Amino acid sequence: MNGPRLAGERLALRPITPADLPSIVRWRNRPEVRRNIPNQPLLTLPAQKKWYKRYLEDPSQVRFVLDAAEFGPIGVFGLTDLERDEGYARLGIVIGEPKARGKGLAREALELLLDFGFRKWKTGSPRGLHRVTAEVFDFNEPAIALYRKVGFKDEGRLRGAHWDAGKRRFSDVLVLGLLREAWLRRRSVKP
Ligand SMILES: CC(C)(COP(=O)(O)OP(=O)(O)OC[C@H]1O[C@@H](n2cnc3c(N)ncnc32)[C@H](O)[C@@H]1OP(=O)(O)O)[C@@H](O)C(=O)NCCC(=O)NCCS
Repeated sequence: MNGPRLAGERLALRPITPADLPSIVRWRNRPEVRRNIPNQPLLTLPAQKKWYKRYLEDPSQVRFVLDAAEFGPIGVFGLTDLERDEGYARLGIVIGEPKARGKGLAREALELLLDFGFRKWKTGSPRGLHRVTAEVFDFNEPAIALYRKVGFKDEGRLRGAHWDAGKRRFSDVLVLGLLREAWLRRRSVKP
């Protein structure tokens, strides 16, 4: 399901259009992106077009293209696996253009996305999202640092839960979580 346009200072999160699908395939097929995302097969454009049709009808996820003033479209962020009654969702983030990484754009995008999820997304539960979960491989230092920076707390370590095919070894999966109350406190907004 596509969401609204969310405008920030240096980028906007906007709905995915059919014209974005070739870029999304290219971003998600990059080796450093595939290595950091669970069960990520090589994508093809025909498969992505089929996925897009299903996605538009799927109320359990909302995804956005990141459109940066400096670079144009640079990646996709989304909230998935929505549990409507409880207000739980999972986070997915990819900056697909290497030149756009390390400039604070992921942080700005994540703050826009979380604010949307906790305060504006009509989930069916009375107050919108209650909790957002992020799962990340233990070697993905940029993502772990970013999640902690926006307020996620470390909640657990699933030992040996991921087979790192490139390095031919098992690695741990870290579970991080962020609750609505904590987000609103950070933002100084009344619950
Ligand atoms: C994770 C990812 C989204 C970060 O994007 P980014 O644009 O580089 O992040 P930002 O520039 O907004 O940085 C925000 C914070 O992340 C951390 N960070 C970013 N790059 C880092 C790096 N190379 N090493 C350590 N920390 C890093 C820092 O804490 C940084 O804050 P700071 O600039 O104040 O130090 C990006 O690297 C990416 O898309 N990676 C591939 C896909 C992926 O791993 N997705 C997450 C799966 S769980």
